[in-house]
Amino acid sequence: MASLSMLRFLFLAIFFVGITATTSTNDIKAIYWLEQPLFPPSAINTSLFTHVYYAFLAPNNVTYELDVVSNSTGTNLATFTNTLRSNVATLISIGGANSNSTLFSLIAANAAARATFINSTITVARTFGFNGIDLDWEFPRTVNEMNDLGLLFKEWRAAVSAEAAATGREPLLLTAAVYFSVDYFLSETTSLRYPVDSINENLDWVNVMSYDLNGPWSNHTGPPAGLFDPKNNASVSYGLGSWIRGGVIPKKVVMGLPLYGRTWQLLEPNVHGIGAPASGPGPGSNGAMALFQVLEFNNETGANVVCDKETASVYSYSGSYWVGYDDPKTVAVKVGFAQALSLHGYFFWAAGLDTSDWKISTQALNAWMLCIEETGGMN
Ligand SMILES: *[C@@H]1O[C@H](CO)[C@@H](O)[C@H](O)[C@H]1NC(C)=O
Ligand SMILES: *[C@@H]1O[C@H](CO)[C@@H](O)[C@H](O)[C@H]1NC(C)=O
Ligand SMILES: *[C@@H]1O[C@H](CO)[C@@H](O)[C@H](O)[C@H]1NC(C)=O
Ligand SMILES: *[C@@H]1O[C@H](CO)[C@@H](O)[C@H](O)[C@H]1NC(C)=O
Ligand SMILES: *[C@@H]1O[C@H](CO)[C@@H](O)[C@H](O)[C@H]1NC(C)=O
Ligand SMILES: *[C@@H]1O[C@H](CO)[C@@H](O)[C@H](O)[C@H]1NC(C)=O
Ligand SMILES: *[C@@H]1O[C@H](CO)[C@@H](O)[C@H](O)[C@H]1NC(C)=O
Ligand SMILES: *[C@@H]1O[C@H](CO)[C@@H](O)[C@H](O)[C@H]1NC(C)=O
Repeated sequence: MASLSMLRFLFLAIFFVGITATTSTNDIKAIYWLEQPLFPPSAINTSLFTHVYYAFLAPNNVTYELDVVSNSTGTNLATFTNTLRSNVATLISIGGANSNSTLFSLIAANAAARATFINSTITVARTFGFNGIDLDWEFPRTVNEMNDLGLLFKEWRAAVSAEAAATGREPLLLTAAVYFSVDYFLSETTSLRYPVDSINENLDWVNVMSYDLNGPWSNHTGPPAGLFDPKNNASVSYGLGSWIRGGVIPKKVVMGLPLYGRTWQLLEPNVHGIGAPASGPGPGSNGAMALFQVLEFNNETGANVVCDKETASVYSYSGSYWVGYDDPKTVAVKVGFAQALSLHGYFFWAAGLDTSDWKISTQALNAWMLCIEETGGMN
């Protein structure tokens, strides 16, 4: 079944590559922009996206309000929205992989802290002309924290609705970035479920981080964001499926796509398949390379490039280096898969990592619009 649908999407993807259509639906084609001087917001090709996220802001650990007091943060927020808001919706993203999970736990557990935090997020979003707010708490780790997260969403929605009613403005969007599966795995035996009912009731959608499923932190190679995994559950299809089986409305689910690869150092250069033994990260920053760097690596080293049908992922290897990533074909396959699940759209991590002519982002858009135009949506 998996391989059948994959073949179908591969066929569609290959057959219709190059068809462009104007964005005509309210589906989500989003990208996170990481505050970085080398890639200004003005460099984002806004015709490829509907929503751009500003990453990241953090709450102050004493006041629990969003920390924007530093001058440069305020200037960056203003530049971001002034540059983008006439073309795309903009959202503030709060948290991120390097943020303080304990602080979120503390805020979510305390009614007064929640109220202060929520108030400040709305104030900052409105002050700087954003269209929405996103929470990227990585990750709630106990049953209580998952419950508190559900409560936070509920109160956040109430505050957003009240503010919209009081001001007569469009309500701010409210979204969250979440783990690749509906259960947060602490170990093989424990799992923690996200607050599905609260998500359905209170969020516009969740950005499912369908990536980092394998990386050089494990001692064998594997697809960082493979659609399928014949041996275990570290796959995009398992994760998205778990969200839907877990009860989240498919139209509240947005699939994550990485614009970067993960690299390994092979233990034996001549053992270079998926699952090959590895001794740690390969080239790049801590074993991560932007997509454009992966293509440069492939070109410069004359790497062997393999499209692995079983996982719907691509890898390349040269000497003792191994890189797992997505290319335009696998991205088109994933987009077709997301549409088959009736998801709301996709998002990328992150701006600045695609090729300079936005190959992957363009392919994702074309693949998404293709199914809308040709079949009126797949079910
Ligand atoms: C932005 O993307 C659109 C749609 O693919 C394309 O037509 C346009 O040339 C791109 N613009 C730039 C500056 O890359
Ligand atoms: C707040 O964060 C700073 C910097 O990380 C730390 O030094 C300080 O102890 C923290 N204060 C509280 C109350 O958590
Ligand atoms: C912020 O920047 C402005 C202009 O550069 C300056 O006048 C002001 O004092 C700064 N404020 C703070 C709090 O640093
Ligand atoms: C994270 O936040 C907690 C609660 O405010 C604080 O105690 C801790 O020091 C913070 N950790 C870091 C690394 O800032
Ligand atoms: C935030 O709190 C202030 C002070 O209580 C209040 O004036 C303001 O209306 C609140 N803002 C929102 C969006 O609730
Ligand atoms: C790889 O990891 C597994 C599980 O942690 C461990 O049993 C095995 O010894 C490791 N192999 C190497 C080559 O480090
Ligand atoms: C995959 O997840 C399912 C439940 O969601 C579980 O029953 C199964 O054992 C898992 N498979 C592996 C290989 O971990
Ligand atoms: C590949 O490398 C060659 C020479 O190293 C260069 O001329 C060419 O532009 C590169 N192609 C791409 C697609 O990067």
